[in-house]
Amino acid sequence: MKVLITGGAGFIGSHVVRHFVKTYPKYHIYNLDALTYAGNLENLKDIESSINYTFLKADIREAHQIQALFQEYKFDRVIHLAAESHVDRSIRNPLAFVNTNVTGTINLMQAALNIWNDLNNHLFYHVSTDEVYGSLGRQGYFTEESLYKPNSPYSASKASADHFVRAYGETYGLPFVISNCSNNYGPNQFPEKLIPLFINNIMENKLLPVYGDGANVRDWLYVLDHVSAIDRIFHKGKNQETYLVGGNNELTNLQLVKLLCDVMDKKLNRPEGSSEKLIKFVKDRPGHDQRYAIDAKKLKSELGWTPKASFNKDLEKTVDWYLANKSWLANVTSGAYREYYTELYENR
Ligand code: NAD
Ligand code: DAU
Repeated sequence: MKVLITGGAGFIGSHVVRHFVKTYPKYHIYNLDALTYAGNLENLKDIESSINYTFLKADIREAHQIQALFQEYKFDRVIHLAAESHVDRSIRNPLAFVNTNVTGTINLMQAALNIWNDLNNHLFYHVSTDEVYGSLGRQGYFTEESLYKPNSPYSASKASADHFVRAYGETYGLPFVISNCSNNYGPNQFPEKLIPLFINNIMENKLLPVYGDGANVRDWLYVLDHVSAIDRIFHKGKNQETYLVGGNNELTNLQLVKLLCDVMDKKLNRPEGSSEKLIKFVKDRPGHDQRYAIDAKKLKSELGWTPKASFNKDLEKTVDWYLANKSWLANVTSGAYREYYTELYENR
């Protein structure tokens, strides 16, 4: 089977690629990635010379390029992760999110339909986010029946992509599954998202900008649990179905940041409480969703998936990875990264 994984040089994608290359030697894994600021082939150094792996540098916004690759390689199945993924960036440049997340997804589906004659043997798996459902109050959980109510340009673009995938299923018979997952954390996450940004800032003794009052809640899932869910859905998911993936692990941002500060103090041999002193409450993110929480019952009862991870242990494992990979952090935080954050912090 020829499996195309898009966005495989990014955070989640690189873990998905490694898992599929190692677990399924009979599949050939093609990793298609434009290597934007968030894509990094260093993430896949350990498997880059595997015989069942090929990297293809391409941009999903370029319809002709994508069609040519489908014609050449005749991919059987697609796991689509390539996206602009950061909410704060979407607030500054919404159109970039429409171009990659919406148009890019359509380009991939169109290219697939052009070569998939017998639609029964194929699959377009769209990896999406719980943010499409908007924000929860104190009570309740997102389920597969929740209404779409995206609040940020990022989540609106992902919601739109979800709708197009569904529409391609109904209109053209494209075989698809969609999963909507909660916040991931783990090694190789770009230090713009809360956990790796704060690890990096603590290492550099920089302020930790907590948006608003820090009471917003996220449901944290270790990235390898997301990978195991993707594997399960890829192999066992039913055509035209949606599956929610979550960690059953809600924390307010402030709870999480304080926990992270404790872990960092210990790991860096700093006096207890020194990282916490770096916390600074800053102006809230516009349209900041209050709470995400997932009811992942369907995935458990229909496909037998539950998350394995234990949060404290895996947060520590994540910190250990960043401390052991300072050159990775130094590489991704040079140049444009510094300019972006200098400007962002100056505007606060
Ligand atoms: P990421 O930003 O780390 O990686 C995105 C990857 O996509 C990068 O390698 C980048 O180079 C590539 N890419 C971006 N634009 C491209 C284009 N035009 N053409 C080809 N490649 C392009 O993202 P991530 O956090 O790993 O998220 C992966 C997917 O999972 C996204 O679709 C995201 O919406 C979804 N998701 C993420 C989370 C999370 O917590 N990170 C949770 C749920 C769902
Ligand atoms: O829920 C899934 C989504 O989780 C994914 O679809 C997105 O791709 C991913 O980026 C993530 O979105 P969030 O906006 O929840 O993640 P982020 O790490 O940006 O922020 C987590 C929380 O921390 C959120 O409430 C905002 C807050 N935050 C974030 C940053 C970067 C801060 O308080 N300060 C910060 O500097």
